[in-house]
Amino acid sequence: MIQIRYFTKSKKGNTKKLADFISNKLQIEALDVTNKLDESADILILVNALYANNIDKEVKLFLEVNKDNIKKLVNVCSSASGKSTYKRVKKECDRLGINILEDNYSTKASWIFINKGRPNEKDFNRLDEFIDIIIKKGDINE
Ligand SMILES: Cc1cc2nc3c(=O)[nH]c(=O)nc-3n(C[C@H](O)[C@H](O)[C@H](O)COP(=O)(O)O)c2cc1C
Repeated sequence: MIQIRYFTKSKKGNTKKLADFISNKLQIEALDVTNKLDESADILILVNALYANNIDKEVKLFLEVNKDNIKKLVNVCSSASGKSTYKRVKKECDRLGINILEDNYSTKASWIFINKGRPNEKDFNRLDEFIDIIIKKGDINE
């Protein structure tokens, strides 16, 4: 079973936009990280962003609380610089014994006056292809 969780902090709600896109594509509800995993997720798609060059403590807390219910984690993220959160998330996963897939998605996104309109159509198309690739590889079996 695939589950989707996200953490959005800014008023733009970029992370929620990415999570909702995946939700529509896979027809699976996307919930914020305050929602615990009640059942084990074969794949957890964790949608998050970079803040002050790190992931938010809410995201770390979510991983800590739900570690036993995550069989494999797929990281999807955005940032103003384009820098991925993958390394930060992997560090937490390694610490907690969570299996994280090397394939991951990252996009530039708007922040204050930077990257206006991002994620844009191209970014969503790339996300669409990323999810397709993950499914094709058999990493996500619906
Ligand atoms: C408080 C705050 C700190 C941020 N710090 C960084 C940063 O250090 N590096 C970066 O590339 N982007 C940074 N950003 C930009 C966010 O990563 C980007 O806007 C992201 O899409 C926010 O997602 P959200 O709208 O779901 O919160 C920051 C944004 C906020 C609100």
